[in-house]
Amino acid sequence: MTPLVNVNLQRLNTLAVPSVAANFVRATSITDLRDALAWAQQRQMSVHLLGGGSNVLLPERIDGLVLQPALRGVEVLEEQGDTLLVRSAAGENWHRFVQFCTAKKYYGLENLSLIPGLVGAAPIQNIGAYGVELCDVFDHLQALNRSTGEVEVFDKNKCEFDYRESVFKQRLRNQYIVVSVTFRLSRTPQIHDHYPAIKQELLGLKRSAITPEVIAHTVMELRRRKLPSPDQIPNVGSFFKNPIISVESFEKIREMYPDVAAYDVASNQKKIAAGWLIEKAGWKGRTEFGVKVHEQQALVLTNPNRGPAKQVLMLAKAIQSNIKARFDIELEQEPQFIE
Ligand code: EPU
Repeated sequence: MTPLVNVNLQRLNTLAVPSVAANFVRATSITDLRDALAWAQQRQMSVHLLGGGSNVLLPERIDGLVLQPALRGVEVLEEQGDTLLVRSAAGENWHRFVQFCTAKKYYGLENLSLIPGLVGAAPIQNIGAYGVELCDVFDHLQALNRSTGEVEVFDKNKCEFDYRESVFKQRLRNQYIVVSVTFRLSRTPQIHDHYPAIKQELLGLKRSAITPEVIAHTVMELRRRKLPSPDQIPNVGSFFKNPIISVESFEKIREMYPDVAAYDVASNQKKIAAGWLIEKAGWKGRTEFGVKVHEQQALVLTNPNRGPAKQVLMLAKAIQSNIKARFDIELEQEPQFIE
């Protein structure tokens, strides 16, 4: 196994920031992954994982080894009554996997249509959209322990999922490589149409007309309307998480702004729409340092000039301090740094 050297990663990250990997391996099997880890260890080199590049911020140069897990394959492991266990290898494209399952009438993933990235990265940040999170349809995953080289199984409990969180972003950060993810899907249509934007789109449709295929189509339409396609305008989706605040803090904001957008999370907490905060603070559509706050969704920063990550971060920091000063709320960045 010989890594490629000085590989340009600009096309391998959806924010299109310029970045060069000193060494790069695309691993298509568990053996490849083990070989690459051993190669780096012999040279005492750091290893940086890169999936679909749709939720990362890359520096201009990465010394060490950039390892891209590219294992492929989808299989039905088990079918019992209406329930199916469907396994996808980590390197499959997420949206193509969702489309495959929907076409086969393996239901449950429709609300997660059109999310960029690879299947293996989906559990790391517990991707979610339009009222469904990955953890709702997750059964288990297999991950390679980077220290021992063994493949271990993680059930839902062991993954410690939360809003855009899992154990792999926290306690076990950089310790495992996900090699496959298994989903618990259903042959009986699962309709999740409670998300406000979906409800709005489906107004007037009879209940019986709302099929999983209609939901998938509606989600794709909504995403195409609000979110820039990374192929055309470089971006990493939401740049910040929606902050979770106490009901008291929320009520203070609502007194001043009765139109504040928020979701219930617990009896004493609210998840407030960061896009709303950023728009209210006047950032929507603004360009600074060559980086633009998207006009249809203020939670998305776009990088039309394909400038370096540090420019994107300058705008992100300016927004964060402005939101802190104005609403006393800390915005947490969603994409992960690869250093
Ligand atoms: N809003 C504004 N101004 C904006 C953007 C949003 O006022 O510029 C308001 C909307 O009017 C709405 C509320 O905020 O009342 C929520 O907006 P939206 O439905 O677009 O969702 P979001 O909370 O901004 C989250 C996820 C998205 C996901 C959508 C749909 C996070 C950080 N983002 O965005 O996920 O697609 O919900 O479920 O939780 C991603 O993570 O990359 C991502 C795109």
